[in-house]
Amino acid sequence: MKFFADTAEIDAIRELADAGLLDGVTTNPSLIHKSGRDFMEVTGEICGIVDGPVSAEVVALDHATMMREAEVLRKIADNVCIKVPLTIDGLKTCRALTGEGTMVNVTLCFSANQALLAAKAGATFVSPFVGRHDDNGFDGMDLIRDIRLIYDNYGFGTEILVASVRHVIHVLEAARIGADVMTAPPAVIKSLANHVLTDKGIEGFLADWAKTGQTILK
Ligand code: E4P
Repeated sequence: MKFFADTAEIDAIRELADAGLLDGVTTNPSLIHKSGRDFMEVTGEICGIVDGPVSAEVVALDHATMMREAEVLRKIADNVCIKVPLTIDGLKTCRALTGEGTMVNVTLCFSANQALLAAKAGATFVSPFVGRHDDNGFDGMDLIRDIRLIYDNYGFGTEILVASVRHVIHVLEAARIGADVMTAPPAVIKSLANHVLTDKGIEGFLADWAKTGQTILK
Protein backbone atom coordinates (compact mmCIF):
# COMPACT_ATOMS: atom_id res chain seq x y z
CA MET A 1 0.00 0.00 0.00
CA LYS A 2 1.31 3.45 -0.90
CA PHE A 3 1.54 6.07 1.84
CA PHE A 4 0.66 9.69 1.11
CA ALA A 5 0.98 12.46 3.72
CA ASP A 6 -2.17 14.54 4.11
CA THR A 7 -0.54 17.88 4.89
CA ALA A 8 1.07 21.00 3.50
CA GLU A 9 3.64 21.23 6.33
CA ILE A 10 7.07 21.10 4.72
CA ASP A 11 9.07 19.94 7.75
CA ALA A 12 6.75 16.99 8.38
CA ILE A 13 6.84 16.01 4.69
CA ARG A 14 10.63 16.17 4.61
CA GLU A 15 10.93 14.06 7.76
CA LEU A 16 8.74 11.27 6.36
CA ALA A 17 10.38 11.45 2.92
CA ASP A 18 13.85 11.17 4.51
CA ALA A 19 12.66 8.02 6.30
CA GLY A 20 11.58 6.55 2.95
CA LEU A 21 7.95 6.43 4.04
CA LEU A 22 6.38 8.72 1.50
CA ASP A 23 4.94 7.86 -1.90
CA GLY A 24 3.05 11.11 -2.36
CA VAL A 25 1.24 14.01 -0.70
CA THR A 26 -2.35 15.23 -0.64
CA THR A 27 -3.37 18.79 0.14
CA ASN A 28 -6.72 20.54 0.20
CA PRO A 29 -7.77 24.18 0.66
CA SER A 30 -8.15 23.71 4.43
CA LEU A 31 -4.62 22.28 4.75
CA ILE A 32 -3.21 25.14 2.66
CA HIS A 33 -5.00 27.60 4.96
CA LYS A 34 -3.58 25.80 8.03
CA SER A 35 -0.04 26.00 6.62
CA GLY A 36 -0.30 29.78 6.23
CA ARG A 37 1.69 29.44 2.99
CA ASP A 38 1.12 30.63 -0.57
CA PHE A 39 -0.62 27.77 -2.46
CA MET A 40 1.56 27.81 -5.58
CA GLU A 41 4.78 28.28 -3.65
CA VAL A 42 4.21 25.53 -1.06
CA THR A 43 2.93 23.09 -3.72
CA GLY A 44 6.10 23.67 -5.75
CA GLU A 45 8.22 23.07 -2.68
CA ILE A 46 6.39 19.81 -1.85
CA CYS A 47 6.76 18.60 -5.45
CA GLY A 48 10.51 19.11 -5.11
CA ILE A 49 10.69 16.91 -2.00
CA VAL A 50 8.45 14.04 -3.08
CA ASP A 51 8.79 12.17 -6.39
CA GLY A 52 5.26 10.78 -6.31
CA PRO A 53 1.91 12.49 -6.93
CA VAL A 54 1.16 15.73 -5.07
CA SER A 55 -2.54 16.52 -5.07
CA ALA A 56 -3.49 20.16 -5.54
CA GLU A 57 -7.19 20.98 -5.48
CA VAL A 58 -9.17 23.24 -7.79
CA VAL A 59 -11.71 25.50 -6.11
CA ALA A 60 -13.97 26.33 -9.07
CA LEU A 61 -17.28 24.53 -9.33
CA ASP A 62 -17.83 24.69 -13.10
CA HIS A 63 -15.95 22.63 -15.67
CA ALA A 64 -14.55 25.53 -17.72
CA THR A 65 -13.06 27.31 -14.71
CA MET A 66 -11.79 24.03 -13.23
CA MET A 67 -9.89 23.46 -16.49
CA ARG A 68 -8.37 26.96 -16.30
CA GLU A 69 -7.31 26.41 -12.68
CA ALA A 70 -5.90 22.97 -13.52
CA GLU A 71 -3.89 24.56 -16.33
CA VAL A 72 -2.21 26.84 -13.79
CA LEU A 73 -1.67 24.09 -11.20
CA ARG A 74 -0.23 21.45 -13.51
CA LYS A 75 2.46 23.90 -14.63
CA ILE A 76 3.90 23.82 -11.10
CA ALA A 77 5.62 20.45 -11.62
CA ASP A 78 5.27 17.17 -13.51
CA ASN A 79 4.14 15.32 -10.37
CA VAL A 80 1.16 17.55 -9.64
CA CYS A 81 -2.08 15.56 -9.46
CA ILE A 82 -5.17 17.71 -9.96
CA LYS A 83 -7.80 17.20 -7.31
CA VAL A 84 -11.40 17.73 -8.38
CA PRO A 85 -14.63 17.32 -6.39
CA LEU A 86 -16.94 14.40 -7.07
CA THR A 87 -19.54 16.38 -9.02
CA ILE A 88 -20.60 16.06 -12.65
CA ASP A 89 -18.42 19.06 -13.54
CA GLY A 90 -15.56 17.53 -11.57
CA LEU A 91 -15.93 14.23 -13.43
CA LYS A 92 -16.05 16.02 -16.79
CA THR A 93 -12.85 17.82 -15.82
CA CYS A 94 -11.34 14.51 -14.71
CA ARG A 95 -12.03 12.90 -18.10
CA ALA A 96 -10.57 15.87 -19.97
CA LEU A 97 -7.40 16.05 -17.84
CA THR A 98 -6.62 12.33 -17.76
CA GLY A 99 -7.17 12.32 -21.54
CA GLU A 100 -4.32 14.82 -21.73
CA GLY A 101 -2.10 12.63 -19.52
CA THR A 102 -2.56 14.59 -16.28
CA MET A 103 -3.09 12.67 -13.02
CA VAL A 104 -6.43 13.34 -11.35
CA ASN A 105 -7.61 12.65 -7.81
CA VAL A 106 -11.42 12.72 -7.51
CA THR A 107 -12.09 13.79 -3.95
CA LEU A 108 -14.96 13.99 -1.46
CA CYS A 109 -16.24 10.51 -2.32
CA PHE A 110 -18.83 9.18 0.14
CA SER A 111 -20.53 6.36 -1.75
CA ALA A 112 -19.59 3.36 -3.87
CA ASN A 113 -21.75 4.70 -6.70
CA GLN A 114 -19.74 7.92 -6.67
CA ALA A 115 -16.55 5.84 -6.82
CA LEU A 116 -17.98 3.96 -9.80
CA LEU A 117 -18.48 7.29 -11.59
CA ALA A 118 -14.91 8.36 -10.79
CA ALA A 119 -13.57 5.13 -12.31
CA LYS A 120 -15.73 5.55 -15.40
CA ALA A 121 -14.37 9.10 -15.76
CA GLY A 122 -10.86 7.64 -15.84
CA ALA A 123 -9.69 8.98 -12.47
CA THR A 124 -6.14 8.14 -11.43
CA PHE A 125 -7.27 8.12 -7.78
CA VAL A 126 -10.61 8.22 -5.99
CA SER A 127 -10.60 9.54 -2.42
CA PRO A 128 -13.26 8.05 -0.12
CA PHE A 129 -13.23 9.94 3.21
CA VAL A 130 -13.44 7.25 5.90
CA GLY A 131 -13.10 9.48 8.97
CA ARG A 132 -15.87 11.86 7.95
CA HIS A 133 -17.98 8.82 7.05
CA ASP A 134 -17.49 7.39 10.56
CA ASP A 135 -18.27 10.80 12.08
CA ASN A 136 -21.69 10.65 10.48
CA GLY A 137 -22.65 7.23 11.74
CA PHE A 138 -21.58 5.15 8.74
CA ASP A 139 -18.78 2.60 8.62
CA GLY A 140 -16.07 4.12 6.45
CA MET A 141 -14.40 0.75 5.96
CA ASP A 142 -17.60 -0.77 4.53
CA LEU A 143 -17.32 1.88 1.85
CA ILE A 144 -13.73 0.86 1.06
CA ARG A 145 -14.77 -2.83 0.90
CA ASP A 146 -17.58 -2.00 -1.54
CA ILE A 147 -15.37 0.10 -3.78
CA ARG A 148 -12.65 -2.61 -3.80
CA LEU A 149 -15.26 -5.23 -4.77
CA ILE A 150 -16.76 -3.11 -7.54
CA TYR A 151 -13.40 -2.03 -9.00
CA ASP A 152 -12.19 -5.65 -8.98
CA ASN A 153 -15.44 -6.87 -10.56
CA TYR A 154 -14.77 -4.73 -13.61
CA GLY A 155 -11.00 -4.38 -13.56
CA PHE A 156 -11.07 -0.58 -13.14
CA GLY A 157 -7.57 0.89 -12.94
CA THR A 158 -8.51 3.80 -10.67
CA GLU A 159 -6.57 3.55 -7.41
CA ILE A 160 -8.50 3.62 -4.14
CA LEU A 161 -6.93 6.37 -2.01
CA VAL A 162 -8.30 6.03 1.51
CA ALA A 163 -8.60 9.58 2.86
CA SER A 164 -9.72 11.30 6.05
CA VAL A 165 -7.70 8.73 7.98
CA ARG A 166 -7.78 9.51 11.70
CA HIS A 167 -5.97 6.63 13.41
CA VAL A 168 -3.84 3.53 12.96
CA ILE A 169 -6.80 1.13 12.80
CA HIS A 170 -8.00 2.92 9.66
CA VAL A 171 -4.58 2.19 8.11
CA LEU A 172 -4.64 -1.45 9.19
CA GLU A 173 -8.16 -2.03 7.87
CA ALA A 174 -7.42 -0.26 4.59
CA ALA A 175 -4.37 -2.51 4.09
CA ARG A 176 -6.40 -5.63 4.93
CA ILE A 177 -9.02 -4.70 2.35
CA GLY A 178 -6.34 -4.04 -0.26
CA ALA A 179 -6.76 -0.30 -0.76
CA ASP A 180 -4.06 0.98 -3.11
CA VAL A 181 -3.13 4.10 -1.17
CA MET A 182 -3.88 5.76 2.13
CA THR A 183 -3.31 9.40 2.99
CA ALA A 184 -2.97 10.38 6.63
CA PRO A 185 -1.69 13.22 8.79
CA PRO A 186 2.05 12.78 9.49
CA ALA A 187 1.34 12.09 13.19
CA VAL A 188 -0.77 9.05 12.25
CA ILE A 189 1.92 7.73 9.89
CA LYS A 190 4.58 8.13 12.57
CA SER A 191 2.43 6.47 15.22
CA LEU A 192 2.34 3.29 13.12
CA ALA A 193 5.83 2.65 14.52
CA ASN A 194 4.65 2.74 18.14
CA HIS A 195 4.46 -0.41 20.23
CA VAL A 196 4.79 -0.72 23.99
CA LEU A 197 6.77 -3.97 23.63
CA THR A 198 9.25 -2.28 21.29
CA ASP A 199 9.84 0.43 23.91
CA LYS A 200 10.09 -2.15 26.67
CA GLY A 201 12.48 -4.27 24.59
CA ILE A 202 14.79 -1.33 23.93
CA GLU A 203 14.76 -0.45 27.62
CA GLY A 204 15.73 -4.02 28.61
CA PHE A 205 18.47 -4.36 25.99
CA LEU A 206 20.01 -1.01 26.94
CA ALA A 207 19.99 -1.88 30.64
CA ASP A 208 21.84 -5.17 29.96
CA TRP A 209 24.20 -3.49 27.51
CA ALA A 210 25.19 -0.94 30.16
CA LYS A 211 26.10 -3.83 32.47
CA THR A 212 28.62 -5.17 29.91
CA GLY A 213 30.58 -1.92 30.19
CA GLN A 214 31.24 -2.05 26.42
CA THR A 215 30.83 0.57 23.68
CA ILE A 216 30.42 0.09 19.95
CA LEU A 217 31.99 3.43 19.01
CA LYS A 218 35.56 3.65 20.30
C1 E4P B 1 -7.95 13.98 1.35
O1 E4P B 1 -7.29 14.14 0.34
C2 E4P B 1 -8.28 15.03 2.30
O2 E4P B 1 -7.29 16.02 2.22
C3 E4P B 1 -8.30 14.60 3.73
O3 E4P B 1 -7.97 13.24 3.89
C4 E4P B 1 -9.48 15.07 4.51
O4 E4P B 1 -9.35 14.64 5.84
P1 E4P B 1 -10.20 15.25 7.05
O5 E4P B 1 -11.55 14.65 7.01
O6 E4P B 1 -9.43 14.84 8.26
O7 E4P B 1 -10.22 16.74 6.83
